[in-house]
Amino acid sequence: MIKVNDQPIEWLGDKVRILDQTRLPHEEVYLEFESYQDIASAISELKIRGAPAIGVAGAYAVALGALGVEAKSRDEFLKRLRGISQTIVNTRPTAKNLFLAIERMQGVAEAGKDVEQIKKALVDKAVKIHAEEAEAIRKLSQLGAELIKDGFAILTHCNAGPLATTGYGTALGVIKYAREQGKKVKVFVTETRPLLQGARLTTWELKKAGIPFTLITDSMAGYFINRGEIDCVMVGADRIAANGDTANKIGTYTLAVLARENGVPFYVAAPTTTLDPTLASGDEIPIEQRSPEEVTHIQGVSLAPDGTQAANPAFDVTPHRYLTAIITEKGIIQELYSERLKGIE
Ligand code: MRU
Repeated sequence: MIKVNDQPIEWLGDKVRILDQTRLPHEEVYLEFESYQDIASAISELKIRGAPAIGVAGAYAVALGALGVEAKSRDEFLKRLRGISQTIVNTRPTAKNLFLAIERMQGVAEAGKDVEQIKKALVDKAVKIHAEEAEAIRKLSQLGAELIKDGFAILTHCNAGPLATTGYGTALGVIKYAREQGKKVKVFVTETRPLLQGARLTTWELKKAGIPFTLITDSMAGYFINRGEIDCVMVGADRIAANGDTANKIGTYTLAVLARENGVPFYVAAPTTTLDPTLASGDEIPIEQRSPEEVTHIQGVSLAPDGTQAANPAFDVTPHRYLTAIITEKGIIQELYSERLKGIE
């Protein structure tokens, strides 16, 4: 077991270190990547995952790729850089943070004067994207904590903690902040099939933070919500359309409908880098379809008869009418999402 520190991603000057999230909770293994292609594979394979974290990883991958380009002219360099950016963009389609980070990196490159200056500017920009994302997430956690009352039981889905954000955490950040304010909270963690981000990662983070939690299977959520044991549902987001419709881990929509049916508040916590004002509604959000094997197997062990057909959409879209509020670093938005989200991204 290699234990370096608790950072899910770190820039080391000429390489990137990540904590391999596929090995958690039992092994804390840090991987060092020297090529952008390896970071792209790590994103596709969910070694680094969560919308803000893949944005940061993508930015570092572009910086790393740029450092390795030997070009005779600025034009040749920019052409090669566009290819690098495309490889990274092709890894996962749903989280807006990845696309925004790559767009920002490309913008810096296109504005640069010469190759050496652009390389330096790209490294600086990736480091800045990381710092800004961490700060936005800390701020939204602080704002969101106001919504949590002493004694609350909060249900969360997937993993929206430090691992997913390279910072404080979005949904878990709000919970952690409330706890730091002295509020007694407890958390219900859905296991989050197929890849068990809740059972493996959220539990790992809550345990480290000393916050009491109960792990449940996804199908138990209705039972606990209906019995009045949940005071609010708090989740993260991968992409939020202009009207507030929100894509998040598959199963989020089900929880939102259950929450509404039972009069339980349903909160989405996300930095403004997750907002996508170019999409009018959630119908336009691209949903990643992953390998059926992630459903027919758990951690390599087959569950179903050979040849079983399985579907594996990685995300679903919750229509904005089910949201009680969206918590961002620029404020908590309730209702009239189309109007109030405008201009804050
Ligand atoms: O497939 P994943 O594990 O990358 O999905 C992540 C989620 O759905 C998270 O809830 C979302 O990215 C918010 S993370 C702050």
